Amino acid sequence: MSTAQALGTAAQMEGANFLNLLVVDDERSIREACRDVAQSLGFNTFVADSAEHAYKVMDTNPVDVVLLDMKLPGAGGLEALHFIREHRPDAVVVVVTGFGTVQSAVQAMKYGAYDYVTKPFSLDELKLLLDRVTDHLKLRSENRILRERVKSKQGFGSIIGRSPEMEKLYRIVAKAAYSNHPVLILGESGTGKELVARSIHFSGPHRDKPFIPVDCGSLLPTLIESELFRYVKGAFTGAARSKEGLLTVADGGTVFLDEVAELPVDLQAKLLRAIQEKEVRAVGSTRNTPIDVRILAATNRDLETAVAEGNFRRDLYFRLNVLTLRLPPLRERRQDIPLLAHHFLERMARSTHTERTLSDDAMKLMLAYDWPGNVRELENCLERACALSSGPLIHVADLPSPLQHALNQAVPQEEDGNKIMPMEAVEKQAILTAIEQLNGDKLLAAKLLNIGKTTLYRKLKEYASQN
Ligand SMILES: Nc1ncnc2c1ncn2[C@@H]1O[C@H](COP(=O)(O)OP(=O)(O)OP(=O)(O)O)[C@@H](O)[C@H]1O
Ligand SMILES: [Mg+2]
Repeated sequence: MSTAQALGTAAQMEGANFLNLLVVDDERSIREACRDVAQSLGFNTFVADSAEHAYKVMDTNPVDVVLLDMKLPGAGGLEALHFIREHRPDAVVVVVTGFGTVQSAVQAMKYGAYDYVTKPFSLDELKLLLDRVTDHLKLRSENRILRERVKSKQGFGSIIGRSPEMEKLYRIVAKAAYSNHPVLILGESGTGKELVARSIHFSGPHRDKPFIPVDCGSLLPTLIESELFRYVKGAFTGAARSKEGLLTVADGGTVFLDEVAELPVDLQAKLLRAIQEKEVRAVGSTRNTPIDVRILAATNRDLETAVAEGNFRRDLYFRLNVLTLRLPPLRERRQDIPLLAHHFLERMARSTHTERTLSDDAMKLMLAYDWPGNVRELENCLERACALSSGPLIHVADLPSPLQHALNQAVPQEEDGNKIMPMEAVEKQAILTAIEQLNGDKLLAAKLLNIGKTTLYRKLKEYASQN
């Protein structure tokens, strides 16, 4: 599938069709040659022999790209360019100029043309140019997805978090969604690796194709092999019928290899071959079947060490590691804790029809705790707290005991337990610790400290002048 088609598929789902390209040229041979090249690249094409004709086409069709001859009868190319910029500001215009009139191309670029090509041009030249236009449109649509998802929301689709670490991650997820390369998702247990893998698949152009998770950690090695690679009747005892493997079933979709570090070494070799050759050989067969699948893989293990120790094939590691996504542990993005807590409490309220909120003390505790089990632990903790709490407010006593221990760590211990500190020093310590624990989120710190944000800023100014 060409990029234009892939994009078109995405556009189709949003109601439009393939990417539409309009060729405007009064020379029939050029019009037709351009149209053929564009069609071969997967564009849906229209032609017009004058500016007026082009306006009519654009009136009834959502045109994405215009190949515009600058020397047109009637209204000239420049006038047509103005018209397009005004009426279809999203359309990408490539102007076609005659030899020796590059000056007009420069002028056109000044008025918003994307690029230009000079006559006579070769078909290869045109192909390259249109590929560049497609890439440009692709990037633009990725950015648009990103902006729409991030705008005023709590995160990216179902991924919650607005910390700088997560915003950075969303940018890569949006990019990864529109690429076909393998992605290696790394992160501690419970950081959201599977959630991110799903987001990559479901924000991309193949979201209507299957997303198939395979847990390499919990399946028996023999089972993983037959699950992934298909087997034929009689391949082993019990194989009474042939069965499709997941790599073939995915058919244009995504296979998510969870806990990929647990894959036995002989299967690693087989997987590498399948990815490289884009075909699989069924267990018990001598024939190869082509596959069309995107591979995403995740692990909470340190794969580089596994490679160094000979437990993971280096070549497979390089294959899977084309794009790497590292999910930050929750303790490194504490300012997302209130957002996540709110999200889970809201979800639980929908299913239990009881709204609950965290008391200020409970929230402080949650912010101080290190969450070794990351978001999953937070989710479980709130489920438990909701079940235990008797009213709409969740108290410290409703939280699991590991969190309660965090209380002791949260209160700064002086070496000399009896040391008396002046109030201003206690206040300064409280403010600075809160800001540090919230990774610099001053607004949230003010909220949790129960002081106004102007007060907080004023105090910070005072502290700065003291130093
Ligand atoms: N950023 C997030 N926003 C909302 N929910 C999240 C987020 N991160 C994780 N979760 C939720 O936490 C739970 C654990 O996430 P997930 O299974 O994706 O983690 P994981 O990294 O694959 O963990 P493991 O390594 O243990 O398999 C899921 O219920 C998931 O929906
Ligand atoms: Mg997982």
